[in-house]
Amino acid sequence: MRGVFITFEGGEGAGKSTQVRRLALLLESYGLSVTVTREPGGTPLAEAIRGLILTHEAASEDGLTQALLFAAARRDHVLRVIRPALAAGHIVLCDRFADSTRAYQGSKMPEAELEQVIALGTDGLKPDLTFLLDLPPEVGLERARSRFTGVEDTFERSNLGFHREVRRRFLALAEAEPARFVHIDASRDEAHVAETIRSVVRAKFMAGQGDGER
Ligand code: TYD
Repeated sequence: MRGVFITFEGGEGAGKSTQVRRLALLLESYGLSVTVTREPGGTPLAEAIRGLILTHEAASEDGLTQALLFAAARRDHVLRVIRPALAAGHIVLCDRFADSTRAYQGSKMPEAELEQVIALGTDGLKPDLTFLLDLPPEVGLERARSRFTGVEDTFERSNLGFHREVRRRFLALAEAEPARFVHIDASRDEAHVAETIRSVVRAKFMAGQGDGER
């Protein structure tokens, strides 16, 4: 049995990691095997690349350089963690994946190169379902800053115009692939967002498996 690959995308402070955790707990309570992971990261090599991209003083402004680094991290992650988990029948929940490269690096490089780099990094793997947790960047950045842990990363430091462009790109991706994406208003409260995610996952992957009133 092949597992199910679900990704969570969106701008800064959209609540992705909270929702990933909530969905993981819920699915585990149904007795399902769940693998929770994130990008950039998920393996020792990918976490090391994450450190270089997000905190290095000399982080590159060049879109292609950034995309190549994210792709190298992603390839390691796909080959060592995601594909094996799917092969073992797990539900894999991933906080950010290739759509983040499309949204964040897409405005800084030609489309054809972007898709080439993404195809190499993903090893051709596509999510079965992607939740776009969407909210205005003003709100998201404020939320991200309120949980401020020391140093803003490379992308949090970018200007509001850049984050508006990231949001526009995510929305365009969701519109272009309505069968894969579910657009969610992430300005709603956490429990409401979690309920929307739960009902989509149930309808799509668990039809016929009763879970009572949970
Ligand atoms: P992270 O701390 O995980 O941010 P968040 O909590 O908002 O998910 O940092 C990831 C940052 O890296 C985030 O600003 C988005 C950026 N990013 C890219 O630019 N391209 C990518 O392909 C990925 C995966 C992330």
